[in-house]
Amino acid sequence: MALFPNTRLRRTRSQPWIRDLVRETHLTPHDLIWTIVVSDSADPIEPVEAMPGTVRMSVAEAAKAAKRARDLGIPAIAVFPHIDPSLKDNAGTEALNRDGLVMRAVKAMKDAAPEVGIICDVALDPFTDHGHDGVMEDGVILNDATVDLLVQQGLAQVEAGCDVLAPSDMMDGRIGAIRGALEESGHTDTLILSYAAKYASGFYGPYRSAIGSAKLQGDKKTYQMDPANTDEALREVAMDIEEGADMVMVKPGLPYLDIVTRVKEAFGVPTYAFQVSGEYAMIMAAAQNGWIDGERVMMETLTCFKRAGADGILTYFAPVAAEILGE
Ligand code: PBG
Repeated sequence: MALFPNTRLRRTRSQPWIRDLVRETHLTPHDLIWTIVVSDSADPIEPVEAMPGTVRMSVAEAAKAAKRARDLGIPAIAVFPHIDPSLKDNAGTEALNRDGLVMRAVKAMKDAAPEVGIICDVALDPFTDHGHDGVMEDGVILNDATVDLLVQQGLAQVEAGCDVLAPSDMMDGRIGAIRGALEESGHTDTLILSYAAKYASGFYGPYRSAIGSAKLQGDKKTYQMDPANTDEALREVAMDIEEGADMVMVKPGLPYLDIVTRVKEAFGVPTYAFQVSGEYAMIMAAAQNGWIDGERVMMETLTCFKRAGADGILTYFAPVAAEILGE
């Protein structure tokens, strides 16, 4: 059966107009969630060495970023804190401080641009002196004691004006506990974006230096997932939806697109992928060496997330990509 020459797939690739017409996947600024790092250091802006083009910013700069997001059509910002090491302890107590860095940043951003959704990371690692996402006892990360703290942290973030709680800690049962506390306290419209399938990944390296998390004692393999597993990711997602998550996330991004596709196909819930710090750093490093066209690779990767089934992408590239998309 000779398809050729009746079928010539190159016909629909032959001109820009026909490529535009047959394109299956469309990326817009609305697909992007801008991940930013706020800092309580004296400088308004500090470059992050391992992530060229990104900065740690002051609360005032975060307010400007919120306006920039609004103007670029970026729907939401996810905020991560870099705090003074002197504020850290075993239980990450500073995470609960109602006047803490994240709470001040949330208020400033909501005042500056109320139209932009603010997503807060619910996790203790920026605040603990051992760099783990939970309370540590005899080298073990305690699940239930940590969940109690995460509930308090989440409520404090919501009271500061945060729209979406995004627990990134991977403790069991935290989504249900947080949802229950939100319902009980009357915060019935607060969204939960669960880091449902979060892997124990080497790709987080530059982030840990960006937020100045303490030198990690051991690793996170007793709570973050084994990169070799996929069925387990579906169980994690099923559990989090059952417990009250509105949206779920897969993290890291590009090496885990098969998980994004499986999750989207199995559950049909809003599904996001996090293009993490190491993915950003690899693209920027190769681009700076002239080995790849950084802008082209950036746009290609963002399109691939959508093609795989993601409803949106958390990315440090968000403002740069949105600017290109708006041209
Ligand atoms: C931890 C957390 C991490 C990131 C976001 N939240 C790192 C980790 O689990 O060690 C990584 C983000 C990135 O690499 O860009 N709560």
